[in-house]
Amino acid sequence: MQTFTTASALSEAIATARVPGCKVGFVPTMGALHHGHAALIRACRRDCDLVVASIFVNPTQFNDSADLETYPRTPDSDRRLLEENGCDLLYLPDTTDVYPEGADSRSLAMHLDYGQLTERLEGAQRPGHFAGVVQVVSRLLGIVCPDVLYLGQKDYQQVAVLRRMVKLLELPVAITVIPTVREQDGLALSSRNRRLSPDERLAAGKINQHLAAVAAGLRSGWPARDLERLARDGMAAIPVLQPEYVEVIDGTTLLPYQDGDPVEELVVAAAVRVGEVRLIDNRIAYRA
Ligand code: PAJ
Repeated sequence: MQTFTTASALSEAIATARVPGCKVGFVPTMGALHHGHAALIRACRRDCDLVVASIFVNPTQFNDSADLETYPRTPDSDRRLLEENGCDLLYLPDTTDVYPEGADSRSLAMHLDYGQLTERLEGAQRPGHFAGVVQVVSRLLGIVCPDVLYLGQKDYQQVAVLRRMVKLLELPVAITVIPTVREQDGLALSSRNRRLSPDERLAAGKINQHLAAVAAGLRSGWPARDLERLARDGMAAIPVLQPEYVEVIDGTTLLPYQDGDPVEELVVAAAVRVGEVRLIDNRIAYRA
């Protein structure tokens, strides 16, 4: 694996490798890599001729400075994980290389109309978060110019927003979404999990159990609002868990699901504070 700290050197290496018919896959990350990230790299390796990953803790998508400061950084094990799973090129830039005009310079992607997609759920809880996500991902796509972008279902709303961005900018890139990788007790792998105390870690496992119960309830035809309430109350009854939202949504529009509506994908999404750590997760109840 070759590592590049500048966009110009990375672009040059990609241009050299991109012979006709070569499929370039790209996996953007913020590091502190785990098996979830590894699943994205492996899928990319399976489908593509050139596997490019990035590690950049993008400051502009953090609405909470404490979250940015405490975001785990594990460069040595990240490099190993990438290499072991077949990554060819790693982009490991600093902020000035990603944002040569300054991190507060606004990119075209930030001026597009995302409608409700960026306003609800994470958008409501973390003002400015998706503006930062589209800012950095549009910049990274401009550098790498991949044929396929690999994203995790774990960040369900992020996928919806980035799909819209790619569509509105008419970028020639396909998006492949990889299912959420979980611990044995169902906790979705997340870089933030390593900040949990043993008690918090135990309690965090219940988040998925509640979401799985909502998904099962939806498949049996239970009312969505009742299931949301049961899950929220069930989680709030566990001392270290503080649910921020638990919502049954139409997976396409991300709007609240109304019982009986025809939807292509029915999803339950949640954000839960576990002590000082904020976790998100979701479950797909069904796909049409
Ligand atoms: P990060 O949280 O590092 O995640 C990088 C990618 O890994 C995202 O597409 C995310 O959905 C996926 N991922 C995380 N946990 C996963 C899990 N348990 N199973 C499967 N996939 C998982 O998401 C970001 O970084 C940033 O917002 C980024 C897109 C890199 C822009 O800065």
